[in-house]
Amino acid sequence: MRTVVLASETDFEGWKTAARGLRLEGVEPARARFVTGEAGQAALFGGEEAGGPQQEAGAFAVPRAFVETAGNLILHRAADRFDLMYRLLWRLRDEPDLMRVVSDPDVAAAAERVKNVSRASHKMKAFVRFRETTDADGERWVAWFEPAHRVLEKTAPFFARRFSTMRWSILTPDGTAHWDGQFLTFGPPGRQDEAPQEDEVEDFWRTYYASTFNPARLRTKMMQSEMPKRYWKNLPEAALIQELVASAVVRTDVMVSEPATLPNERFQRLRAPVIDRAATDEMVPSDLAELGRGVQGCRRCPLWRDATQGVCGQGPAQARLMIVGEQPGDQEDLAGAPFVGPAGRLLDAALVEAGIDRAETYLTNAVKHFKHEPRGKQRLHKTPNAGEVQACRWWLDHERKLVRPRLILALGATAGLAVLGRKPAVQAERGVVIDTPEGDRVLLTVHPAYLLRLPDPEARRRERAAFVADLRKAKDDTIRA
Ligand code: URA
Repeated sequence: MRTVVLASETDFEGWKTAARGLRLEGVEPARARFVTGEAGQAALFGGEEAGGPQQEAGAFAVPRAFVETAGNLILHRAADRFDLMYRLLWRLRDEPDLMRVVSDPDVAAAAERVKNVSRASHKMKAFVRFRETTDADGERWVAWFEPAHRVLEKTAPFFARRFSTMRWSILTPDGTAHWDGQFLTFGPPGRQDEAPQEDEVEDFWRTYYASTFNPARLRTKMMQSEMPKRYWKNLPEAALIQELVASAVVRTDVMVSEPATLPNERFQRLRAPVIDRAATDEMVPSDLAELGRGVQGCRRCPLWRDATQGVCGQGPAQARLMIVGEQPGDQEDLAGAPFVGPAGRLLDAALVEAGIDRAETYLTNAVKHFKHEPRGKQRLHKTPNAGEVQACRWWLDHERKLVRPRLILALGATAGLAVLGRKPAVQAERGVVIDTPEGDRVLLTVHPAYLLRLPDPEARRRERAAFVADLRKAKDDTIRA
């Protein structure tokens, strides 16, 4: 019997060198033995034929699949893994395609063990729980973990990538891994009592686990295969498992007896029947209330899909002054009323300065649904395009017919386009009454949001004064008219 003593349980380089030499020497699998640690010492002193290859000659190529398999197989805890590896290597010389024969008992046994190793590595990624400590250099995170197979060195680079800015150590009975923020190093086996036992983060894990646990979905077998019992003792949240499982039946009964939760509103809206455009064209609103209801069912353009609701005009049906903005903003969309957000507050203050009573004014928008795009938790305003403005003119035209104001004040280019039916040059055309072919009288000015966006305080002051001056003209005109 030839006995090779390897430097460690996972000494793949040592195994490769020795196994290649033995194969070249023609040492049959039954006569080769690989040992490590104490078994190795006993073998050396027990009178067995010592060690590695006597000669090393000749090239010997093996398929990459074998090297990959063996590199993982060596991490398995089964004591006979070295023999299996050497048996495969031995056979490869005469059976170069052996690794592809999945039905072969040696190949199948190797594949099964590689799967176990990969699963152990995956579980390590999922179940390592760091606890906070401090040492001379400050904060350090330490975890105790007992992997099913010897996957520490294989898996530690994952933690170095994931927690690259933390200083951490993972202690296992096979060895330890340490990351100092720059280098990953490995050391001798650790002990559980070297790792902190409990910290506040445990509460977080327990709360998180309890909140994600759905008693109605309880499948104990599946749960145990995902979170095998062997890992429970080092998982803070595992302390809850028995209690949660025990109370699952009662909690499910309670859930079943509770009233159903409300359906997702947006989903409901998307499923709502699309109102036939021809039908709504025929439906001429006889008053503003009917118009308001019609706007809620409007499908003339796609903007309704992402908006909370349509925002109609507000104010007396006989208002002498109609003010038209661009479209509802974030706050208007939620409140269902025009000009209640930041631009609305600026407008309110300017109206007061100009001596206009908002309550006597009909305030509306060119477009009735909030056009926006999500950015994180925010909904960012997007300017409606000409098609959307045109589609929504149907409602604005009806508002104009129903209210019949003496003057329409259009705030900004979009409102100007909707009211005049052409793109206006706001700065050049502002402040003078424009007579439209339909017999309406229109005054153009800037939009209050434009004033909010001006970065220069002096420019803001100047533009605000010009805005108030335009409002005064609107007031004077409606009094005179
Ligand atoms: N901007 C508008 O144009 N209209 C509103 O209703 C709010 C902000």
